[in-house]
Amino acid sequence: MRARKIREGIYWVGAIDWARRVFDELVPLPEGTSYNAYLVQGDQKTALIDTVDPDYTDTLMGRLDGAGVTRLDYLVANHAEQDHSGSIPAVLERFGEARLLCTKKGKDMLMRHLGVSEARIDVMEDGATVDLGGRTLEFLHAPWVHWPETMLTYLREDRILFPCDLFGSHRATSELFVQDEHEVLVAAKRYYAEIMMPFRTVISKHLKRLADYDLGLICPSHGPCFPRPELIVDAYRDWVDGPTVNRVVLPYVSMHGSTYRMAQHLLEALVSRDIPVDPFNLTVTDEGQLAMALVDASTIVLATSTVLAGAHPKAVYAAYLANVLRPKVRHIGLIGSYGWGGKTVDQLKGLMPALKAEWLEPILVKGYPGAEDLARLDALADQIRERHADLP
Ligand code: FEO
Repeated sequence: MRARKIREGIYWVGAIDWARRVFDELVPLPEGTSYNAYLVQGDQKTALIDTVDPDYTDTLMGRLDGAGVTRLDYLVANHAEQDHSGSIPAVLERFGEARLLCTKKGKDMLMRHLGVSEARIDVMEDGATVDLGGRTLEFLHAPWVHWPETMLTYLREDRILFPCDLFGSHRATSELFVQDEHEVLVAAKRYYAEIMMPFRTVISKHLKRLADYDLGLICPSHGPCFPRPELIVDAYRDWVDGPTVNRVVLPYVSMHGSTYRMAQHLLEALVSRDIPVDPFNLTVTDEGQLAMALVDASTIVLATSTVLAGAHPKAVYAAYLANVLRPKVRHIGLIGSYGWGGKTVDQLKGLMPALKAEWLEPILVKGYPGAEDLARLDALADQIRERHADLP
């Protein structure tokens, strides 16, 4: 196993998971992922920043061997989730002298989740530093990227930020550094939507703090490193704080064609009013694509059949997912068909309390939509056009 050189004394020692197709039993991984760990050698001391998923402990150890590491002074745990912390017990066992550095909350999590001994841990306060000899690691507390215990590590002299999950992308690639910026940004946006978007308010504060740091390179713990840090930092600023755009997300599920007819009519009506639409057939939708579409859309219109007395379970899931992801969406519509009644509207509204958006008048139709129903959908498209009038 070889360690990959980033620059003299700084190496990538992570693992590429080419085959993994789902994360947390929740997030689809169409391009696999990586668990990046980084070795930083100073004149006197050596630090390992993060580890890898426990399935890849042997890979990490092999790369440390490849780098000739016989002593480890510090093991930095930016984040306690197992894809980065899972190999910590094995590393601590192998390097009995190593101190494990993390936040106070990280300490509790690492002890509870991984059984790490308290005696091995040194809590790093916000802004604390350790001197490796000619190289200084500074620790920035950054809660909620992605759990409450997370921190970022900044290598001052080399101007490298190791932000763990923040700025990552789920992408298995042999490229250590970003090559095709567009491809990586698409993957990073998907990753942001699935993992970081619920925390955009706090991320906005982290971005403001990072503006005071001179960033020459960003090395996250998933996906390639960014030799042009402004690429990903500016993208995050836009995703987190930028305006919503003139775009409608239209997730739909239809059992017998009535709801599909309504979704289809609304889609045409919106497009004819110069409003781009992202439709998603919830029967086959990749949730990552749906999440990504929610990052900057101004309006969601959820289209659902009624099953017995409520929304179709796939629409329930989509509503729950949207509520959890907390996109910037400003308007929500609800359309669909029913056979004999139901409480679909109240049910779906109740599933999205976290979305601070205007609810447009729902359009629920008994049976197959007729001309009057289609006219109401045209009116809904007009309403959306009015509300999108000043959007980019
Ligand atoms: Fe990549 Fe939150 O773990």
